[in-house]
Amino acid sequence: MSSFPKVFVAGATGLLGGQIVRALLDQGAPVRALVRPGTSEEKKRSLTARAAGGLELVEADITDPAEQLAEAVGDATTVISAVQGGPEVIVDGQANLVRAAEKAGARRFIPSDFAFDLTKLDDGDNFMIDWRRQAAAARAGSRLDVVSVLNGAFYEVMTGFMGLIDWQQGTLSHWGDPDQPLDLTSVPDTAAYTAAVALDPSATGTLRFAGEVMSMRQFHDAVQRGSGRSLELRHLGTADDLRAEITRQAALTHNPFDYVALQYQWCMVTGKAKFDSLDNARYPNVTPQSLTDFVRATTPAH
Ligand SMILES: NC(=O)c1ccc[n+]([C@@H]2O[C@H](COP(=O)([O-])OP(=O)(O)OC[C@H]3O[C@@H](n4cnc5c(N)ncnc54)[C@H](OP(=O)(O)O)[C@@H]3O)[C@@H](O)[C@H]2O)c1
Repeated sequence: MSSFPKVFVAGATGLLGGQIVRALLDQGAPVRALVRPGTSEEKKRSLTARAAGGLELVEADITDPAEQLAEAVGDATTVISAVQGGPEVIVDGQANLVRAAEKAGARRFIPSDFAFDLTKLDDGDNFMIDWRRQAAAARAGSRLDVVSVLNGAFYEVMTGFMGLIDWQQGTLSHWGDPDQPLDLTSVPDTAAYTAAVALDPSATGTLRFAGEVMSMRQFHDAVQRGSGRSLELRHLGTADDLRAEITRQAALTHNPFDYVALQYQWCMVTGKAKFDSLDNARYPNVTPQSLTDFVRATTPAH
């Protein structure tokens, strides 16, 4: 029998949630993983494939009535949320999950924050971060001990979704000061830190981790070293120019997801959401991958 209390993971079929489940199981912790009704057998298999035991799958949706969702939480004492979605998931769904966790008798809640320092931002800086701060306000009276895990930006996002690197053109484009330090962490390392926090009874408050703290100039060097490719570093404009570009794009579309990558970049390149300190040293067993090694392992040959 495991010496660890059981952990419930919502968002277990997602990019980060699946890795959190694996990291918990690797530590020997028993896990109840939420899968939504209708989840494909393939998705379920990818969750259970590496689980030697200690993993239960439970079917539920975090918007289910709290009584019903409490049954899914069962005897887990820590609830981790790694869900992604709109305000109905991030604000209302997570508030419902907190109520369900309370009803089930859980003690701790780790919300789906996993970003740069959202405590330092203002409304309007980034609409997806606004929802996370609204979620924090909604659970303010909860008797659960809430521990927020922050990781800066995923390596996977910086080398992909952000659209900074154009392998075909051979360019790496950025806004703002190329020497502004940025907090970056891979998805597996964020999951490893989250598992460590979940299994650490003394963890409390907001904990901040980074696999690398590097400027855009150092990011450019690391991507070149890891990929073996030479990329021209292109400066697109100042942080104020970026703010103006976000305003310009916002006026052209009703879909804020069209410019959310720019909002994430603005929060980073201004230094506004930069971590003031790191908590990596609490968990010396987690040895984060360098960005160079990450790029070496993930960049296809050209
Ligand atoms: N710092 C960064 O650079 C960065 C980058 C990306 C993400 N993140 C953060 O990491 C967290 C997880 O993101 P992700 O990219 O791993 O998300 P993802 O891959 O899109 O997965 C989202 C998960 O949420 C589940 N979900 C959505 N609505 C649900 C509901 N109503 N009930 C139950 N489950 C629901 C999905 O289930 P289904 O599979 O059934 O749809 C899936 O398991 C988020 O907080 C996100 O903001 C951070």
